[in-house]
Amino acid sequence: MSEQVSPPGTGRFRACAAAELELGRAKLVRVAGRDLCLARCEDGIHAVDDLCSHEDYSLAEGEVDPTTCEVECWAHGSVFSLHDGEPQNLPATRPVGVYAVEVDGDDVYVVVPG
Ligand code: FES
Repeated sequence: MSEQVSPPGTGRFRACAAAELELGRAKLVRVAGRDLCLARCEDGIHAVDDLCSHEDYSLAEGEVDPTTCEVECWAHGSVFSLHDGEPQNLPATRPVGVYAVEVDGDDVYVVVPG
């Protein structure tokens, strides 16, 4: 039986240790050649594309609301849902990509779709 191989840049990748993610703080991680913003909210850990959809600023440098599970871009104030990536206000009008997160033991994994 042949082993299933994910295409390059897709699959399940270790992002960081779970202990590195504090509640309400974002962290920039590089996974499969992508910069992602990881954040721990009250309902768990979430991952979205790090670059804001308005301009190229890092969402991981923004402020996370762990209760509403949103991150605010520090550049111009757009707030993004960490659940579906949708902007909640202007100036951003397009969502950022969202990735499935799996916690396995002490490690956090992100699933990058093919
Ligand atoms: S770069 Fe994020 S709101 Fe403008």
